[in-house]
Amino acid sequence: MRTPLIAGNWKMNGSLALVDAFAQALVTTRLPARVEVALMVPFPYLGAAARAFRDAPVAVGAQTLSDQPAGAFTGEVSGAMLADLGARYVLVGHSERRSLFGEDDAGVLARVQAALANGLTPVLCLGETLEGREAGRTEAVVLGQLAAVFDALGPDERARLVLAYEPVWAIGTGRTATPEQAQAVHAAIRARLADYAPALAEALKILYGGSMKAANAGELLAQPDIDGGLVGGASLQVDDFLAICQSAG
Ligand code: 13P
Repeated sequence: MRTPLIAGNWKMNGSLALVDAFAQALVTTRLPARVEVALMVPFPYLGAAARAFRDAPVAVGAQTLSDQPAGAFTGEVSGAMLADLGARYVLVGHSERRSLFGEDDAGVLARVQAALANGLTPVLCLGETLEGREAGRTEAVVLGQLAAVFDALGPDERARLVLAYEPVWAIGTGRTATPEQAQAVHAAIRARLADYAPALAEALKILYGGSMKAANAGELLAQPDIDGGLVGGASLQVDDFLAICQSAG
């Protein structure tokens, strides 16, 4: 049985005050025992968040990392640094990184490998654009992004990932995929994972992301192949995010 994971992605938002607001709310809120919770915060807040959530059942993660271990790469942040600060997760291949910062499949693979080399759990993001969906290419795009990473990894490495299906047309648009649309893609991803190994398909978490909020989380999370959420905008509101966590329990 897969334990649901609700992960917030603050993107380039938030503040130390928001870290504190989450920490204070977590003192008085009892999260469901069978739900894992994580917050992917901007680099500068990682250390503070890891300290603030030390006694809370909330893990901390980053939103990207360098594909290089160290060296003259001004402005970059390595996997070792993230681990040093207490990060457990790191998003890799978010559609904003792919489209705005030129991360291609090879760059995504290199970042997954850098994360694994430093003991981090990569949350590999997959998703089609509206154009891709309307052209009937949803599965081809998503399964192609999956293969670009999974074909290059060994069985033990594959087992250490979390996947997130985030249709690009649903991100930040308020236009959520219907539970049926999301479930269909999640099932296709899981079927492809079974080609690598049936046990991998059974074990790997596949999160849904794209305009998930308290009002629609319950019906999305009730789908058999949706194992949690990757939440953008609603993770900036303590009450909204904790309500989504509750609905996963
Ligand atoms: P929204 O929840 O704001 O649509 O963002 C989703 C997302 O991109 C999470 O990584």
